[in-house]
Amino acid sequence: MSEGGYDLVVVGGGPGGYVAAIKAAQLGLKVACVDKRGALGGTCLNIGCIPSKALLHSSHLFEEVGHGLGKHGIKVSGVELDLGAMLANKSQVVKGLTQGIEYLFKKNKVDYVVGAGLIENPGKVVAQANGAARELTTRNVLIATGSDVMPLPGVSIDEDRIVSSTGALDLKRVPKHLLVVGAGYIGLEMGTVWRRLGAKVTVVEFLDRVTPGMDGEVSKEFERILKKQGMAFKLGTKVTGVDSSGESIKVTVEPAKGGAAETIECDTVLVSIGRQPYTEGLGLEKVGVRLDNRGRVETDDRFGTSVAGIWAIGDVIVGPMLAHKAEEEGSCVAEQLVGQKPHIDYDIIPGVVYTTPEVASVGKTEEQLKEAGITYKAGKFPFMANSRARSVGLTDGFVKLLADAATDRVLGAHIIGPEAGILIAEVAVAMEFGASSEDIARTCHPHPTLEEAVKEAALATFAKPIHM
Ligand code: FAD
Ligand code: NAI
Repeated sequence: MSEGGYDLVVVGGGPGGYVAAIKAAQLGLKVACVDKRGALGGTCLNIGCIPSKALLHSSHLFEEVGHGLGKHGIKVSGVELDLGAMLANKSQVVKGLTQGIEYLFKKNKVDYVVGAGLIENPGKVVAQANGAARELTTRNVLIATGSDVMPLPGVSIDEDRIVSSTGALDLKRVPKHLLVVGAGYIGLEMGTVWRRLGAKVTVVEFLDRVTPGMDGEVSKEFERILKKQGMAFKLGTKVTGVDSSGESIKVTVEPAKGGAAETIECDTVLVSIGRQPYTEGLGLEKVGVRLDNRGRVETDDRFGTSVAGIWAIGDVIVGPMLAHKAEEEGSCVAEQLVGQKPHIDYDIIPGVVYTTPEVASVGKTEEQLKEAGITYKAGKFPFMANSRARSVGLTDGFVKLLADAATDRVLGAHIIGPEAGILIAEVAVAMEFGASSEDIARTCHPHPTLEEAVKEAALATFAKPIHM
């Protein structure tokens, strides 16, 4: 069956693809979106951002009610975990949101095609499902096929005892001892969920610090706080073997730089060492779309691939694998197709780890500024000195602002502390407007709020903080 006349066929219905499809339809284009999962929203809504945040919230409540209310004079006894109900709530949240995207497609007149998309040529996508094929003719194709779990050589993931993030969102029981490979976003978020629910958690990280890409000072503070919460770390350590033949799993590790091996026994292993671009089955080689040396679809600065009329965005191309980055790129492609000239500043893509406390960053780290030879000023303010943080008893962490030494223009912000993911947005907006640290410091912030810690860090950058 051939259906045609599309201006844009998007392959992949994740945050990159579905946003591109909706935006393009809003701009008057005829659009179809092909996804093979059977539910829209991609990795993010189905097995990523949303279910992990639902479990982080539920497990936080469980820990707070179990251990955190006494100091507020609230006595609670008999707190019990109903893991089945917690997981069912998470699945319900996912279902509601994925169906919400279907509703948005209908509202915006985007045709949703369930099937695996194969790009036959720049003007034709074939969607295959259950042995049937639908041919969609189009003026443009957008590759938004996202990413998949990066495997650990020699370790086979069964999503039961040896899991990726997907299995870690659905464990049927709380592990006695969860061994996490990789102290990145997934390892620390999912490790936190299962620690809160009662697991002993050991995190093995190849490099010598947690969340290695982050500002060094934040990473150190993050590790200190996570250890205080009960998480154990083996940094500068690599996993060399996983033996799951017996009742317990035996994981062999050794120092990354070489040295004596040791064996750790556990009952569950989470492999979270990164994600890789997903291009399987798209037919890219035949149609001539080039990949880079890391398997990502190669694009120019307007998201054009090596084949005219075929575009690519999101996790499948270069850049941080984050939903909001994919969304911005999706909007950009749609706007370009109707002749607009959108722009993304890749220096202003915030990143947030949704643990307690949250960790958020935007712009350059101190390490990056040093490496680039840029002279900068740093202003820091601890939550311990913020009256709102003190009132609610969330005093761990700090706000750090980095500004150019000569112009005072804000170059980066790194926050570890309560609501860091919300606080970072103020700095991102300020950076988009080219603000100086003085601009932030002289802006009247409401009292008593956590936001005042951002103002004080800005004061610390261009002058001196008041409350420290
Ligand atoms: P995806 O969301 O991966 O969507 C691609 C879609 O394309 C998938 O549905 C796939 O089935 C489909 N597809 C692939 N090939 C084909 C084909 N040939 N035909 C048809 N369909 C195809 N990011 C954040 O910003 N915040 C978070 O809190 C966060 N948490 C995360 C937690 C976890 C556990 C994980 C794994 C990821 C998380 N991420 C988070 C990352 C985020 O999910 C990704 O960056 C985002 O989903 C990328 O969007 P995308 O549209 O590029 O691709
Ligand atoms: P990651 O890149 O964040 O972290 C992987 C970690 O594993 C790194 O610290 C790396 O040094 C380490 N590592 C690599 N190989 C190793 C090995 N053999 N042994 C031990 N450690 C090893 O990747 P992760 O956590 O898998 O997440 C994938 C991506 O998904 C993230 O980079 C992020 O883009 C996205 N994500 C975002 C979230 C958010 O925004 N809150 C939450 C979860 C995922």
